[in-house]
Amino acid sequence: MKFFTSVVLLAATATTSPVPRIFNLVSSNASDESYNGLYLSTQHVDPLNSKAVFRDAADAAEFYLLDGTVRYNAPNGAPYELALVSGDEVQSEVEVGVSPSSGSTGFSFTSDNILATDNENWGGWLVCDGASDLPGLYYHNKSKGGDVPDGCDSIELDAVYKDSL
Ligand SMILES: *[C@@H]1O[C@H](CO)[C@@H](O)[C@H](O)[C@H]1NC(C)=O
Ligand SMILES: *[C@@H]1O[C@H](CO)[C@@H](O)[C@H](O)[C@H]1NC(C)=O
Repeated sequence: MKFFTSVVLLAATATTSPVPRIFNLVSSNASDESYNGLYLSTQHVDPLNSKAVFRDAADAAEFYLLDGTVRYNAPNGAPYELALVSGDEVQSEVEVGVSPSSGSTGFSFTSDNILATDNENWGGWLVCDGASDLPGLYYHNKSKGGDVPDGCDSIELDAVYKDSL
């Protein structure tokens, strides 16, 4: 009986390890139905940077939240981070860069597991038909204008946790 109890305690301790929870980011709440249920992934730009684009579930990137940054590990273990690129447009770019200083901070989840940020210019996530064949993730910079740009749709990004750990 005593032996059994300590095994249970051991198992309970093991599940509370500080390993960050892994999640996919999935689009929702778009007015154009074809923009819902898309999985955030990456598209190679150069060795240090990728574009944030949407693909099928099989090609989804596995993210984790660390100190207010949204990260994912490349196959070589390098921690890439989601970065809100400040530009001169309402529709601003989101990149995924490997430089630890380039990631944006201030990300968190709402109680509904929606990815939010405390950025003061924040007007929400956008999906836009990007320069490539894949729909790209952008964000609405409110300081540049109030309206959602043409060719874009407002979306939410929902965390879908991988519960296997
Ligand atoms: C979902 O979309 C509606 C209509 O565009 C919007 O009013 C609402 O704020 C969105 N929900 C969230 C949580 O963004
Ligand atoms: C939004 O636009 C402002 C003004 O140009 C800029 O300072 C800021 O970096 C942009 N991006 C974000 C995420 O605020």
